[in-house]
Amino acid sequence: MTHLSSHTTAKALFQPYPNGGADARHEEAHGWHVRDIAFEQIDRARIEGNEDLFYLLMGASFIETGSDTYASNLAEHYREYPEIADWLRNRWEREELQHGAALRRYVETVWPGFPWQAAYDSFFAEYSRLCTVEELNEDRQLEMVARCVVETGTTAYYHTLRELSDEPVLRQLLGHIRSDEVGHFKYFLKYFKQLQQESPVGRGRIAGALYARLKELRESDSDVALRHVYAHKGWYFSDRNRSFAEVAQRAYQLISTQLPADLAVRMLLKPLLLPPRLEGYLYAPITRLATRVMAP
Ligand SMILES: [Fe+2]
Ligand SMILES: [Fe+2]
Repeated sequence: MTHLSSHTTAKALFQPYPNGGADARHEEAHGWHVRDIAFEQIDRARIEGNEDLFYLLMGASFIETGSDTYASNLAEHYREYPEIADWLRNRWEREELQHGAALRRYVETVWPGFPWQAAYDSFFAEYSRLCTVEELNEDRQLEMVARCVVETGTTAYYHTLRELSDEPVLRQLLGHIRSDEVGHFKYFLKYFKQLQQESPVGRGRIAGALYARLKELRESDSDVALRHVYAHKGWYFSDRNRSFAEVAQRAYQLISTQLPADLAVRMLLKPLLLPPRLEGYLYAPITRLATRVMAP
């Protein structure tokens, strides 16, 4: 059984901003920009030789950069809801692409010999075939539930990467990205609640959508990304002679053992819209279940 650690309390993690305010104006005020990151101050000695972070950060930079394909599909899916479509196009997509741009700049600064564009192009040729409108849940409410799962996954992922890093510029960057992912989760949850009021979906179907998307997180995107990073790594870490299977297994092991399970489960329970007492009661058994699902 994999041990899932919790480094900070879920409540503290769940608040992306110090005073807990989540309204749009507050978020604007606390926004960040890729130009604010001091890439020239990266302490390369602390990061260059970290093979695991090489793969995990490169992979993340690919997936985030590929966000626009997905964002336009999703905006199209919600075209009958102008507020949602507008937020997806103007806010969510912009932030995800900024994650990609900032991560790319970081990895290119640390590992300048990696042919990022060529590797990304080969990744994207495969990845873009996976992101089609047909992949979206036909039910608008349930697709929002699936988005909540994805944002929970990215929040936990960046939280974990940050825990694994001791390079200060990277820690700052990953902190910004993680806060954005929590913000995305909150918006998707808010829109889900709005749609639920219009035409409610039963809790059984919501739980089914949560579980299905959670299982998909295991396979999918990150594997595709890692494969293309590996194929283009050139001489980087060639002295260690690891096969792709080994690299993928290490990455998976590292992420799954460090994942903040309590944070993830608290987020995952939100779309069920349970009364607070019931949510507290379900917390322990669901954590055990999630641990089993996410463990290798
Ligand atoms: Fe992101
Ligand atoms: Fe996100």
